[in-house]
Amino acid sequence: MKKATKLKENVYWVGARDLNCRNFHGELYPIEEGTTYNAYLILDEQTTLIDTVEEEFTSDCLERIQSVLKDQPLDNIILQHAEPDHSGGLMKIKAAYPNATVYASQGCVRNVTTQFHPDFPMNPLKTNDTLCTGKYNFTFVEMQMIHWPDNMLTYCPELKTVFSNDAFGQHIVNYQLTDENLDKNYCIEQAKEYFANIVLSYTTQVKAKLNLILSMNLEIEDIMPAHGIIWRKYIPDILEAYQGFADSKCKRKAVIVYESVWKHTQDMAEALAEGFGDAGMEVKVYKLSNTRSSIVFRELMDAEVVCVGSGTYNNEISYSVGAFLTHLKAAKVKGKKGLGFGAFGWFPKVPSNIDQALVDSGLTSCHEAIAQAFSPSQDQLENYYQIAQEIAKDC
Ligand SMILES: Cc1cc2nc3c(=O)[nH]c(=O)nc-3n(C[C@H](O)[C@H](O)[C@H](O)COP(=O)(O)O)c2cc1C
Ligand SMILES: [Fe+2]
Ligand SMILES: [Fe+2]
Repeated sequence: MKKATKLKENVYWVGARDLNCRNFHGELYPIEEGTTYNAYLILDEQTTLIDTVEEEFTSDCLERIQSVLKDQPLDNIILQHAEPDHSGGLMKIKAAYPNATVYASQGCVRNVTTQFHPDFPMNPLKTNDTLCTGKYNFTFVEMQMIHWPDNMLTYCPELKTVFSNDAFGQHIVNYQLTDENLDKNYCIEQAKEYFANIVLSYTTQVKAKLNLILSMNLEIEDIMPAHGIIWRKYIPDILEAYQGFADSKCKRKAVIVYESVWKHTQDMAEALAEGFGDAGMEVKVYKLSNTRSSIVFRELMDAEVVCVGSGTYNNEISYSVGAFLTHLKAAKVKGKKGLGFGAFGWFPKVPSNIDQALVDSGLTSCHEAIAQAFSPSQDQLENYYQIAQEIAKDC
């Protein structure tokens, strides 16, 4: 029996915990301890559900709703996003409460229709539309392309609550539901990893919407996202962190990623790392096949320098570096310096191809690509150390 959890007067969490999820959005975002799909039930003259859950967890959500409503009807369903982790339960919940009116952004109506082919109408909403349920008024803000065309955010002034859907989400499974019993840095770090892996491509849109929301001078007691903890204690901190993320703020930090079979490229990576480190820069070094991509992107988000190395295999880069470069291009990072490097046997072009791929992804080349024939000598390693020291001078 799944029961609702009361968050504040008339507001209940009726979502689901996906404890076994290790690949969020498939292979795109590996995670460690599962996630939650948050849905919220608000009691008023009319009852309102905000968001649903992934389809396979719909019975959890329905049981939690029924634990509060008993024989009462559900009057409204506000669907803030058409992605199946939030809309997957819609069809079954609507079947259980056929008289509920469904509200969604225009884009969400379109995307729900093409995904689920519903036989019921949905009420399209745009920014500044409102819904009055009695004593509560809900105002909607479209959040196009953060990170789908259909995302929306809902604010209720009487509850002093922002229902933010994917924005401000993180993959923290906390049975107390809010941030109040958790360490601040842990919460922000998890939100940063989520941003780096879900939202990073859309920093321009995030900046614009964040400015809009801040200009509304909302009184906010709670931010209730669709994944992870509810922000209550650390609201100024998460808002400030999001501003930094949206501004693509970088620090004196180098992230070095590489793939290596015979450790020649790895030796180069380590010489570069020591050069950056001795110049006082923060350095992270990851062998891509050993590291989950979500950590790499979390660390890369605030790094000023990104060095990408690969050995040469059948005249090409390794699989993991290829996948990384594809993901990096999609991330549309801003204001970063890039360097391609790597070892080869008889075909020396791969490092410069990596460098070109970095430039094509919007990074500035900070040194010509380093191509190493087989194993680097001590003198060559010293040279790579010096190259890193030179790059560090401009950081
Ligand atoms: C499976 C395999 C295929 C390779 N194919 C090429 C190649 O097509 N062209 C080339 O220049 N070197 C090739 N090499 C040689 C490597 O690029 C060279 O050994 C390099 O030093 C490997 O760097 P690593 O130790 O970082 O993996 C190949 C090596 C392996 C293991
Ligand atoms: Fe989403
Ligand atoms: Fe989501």
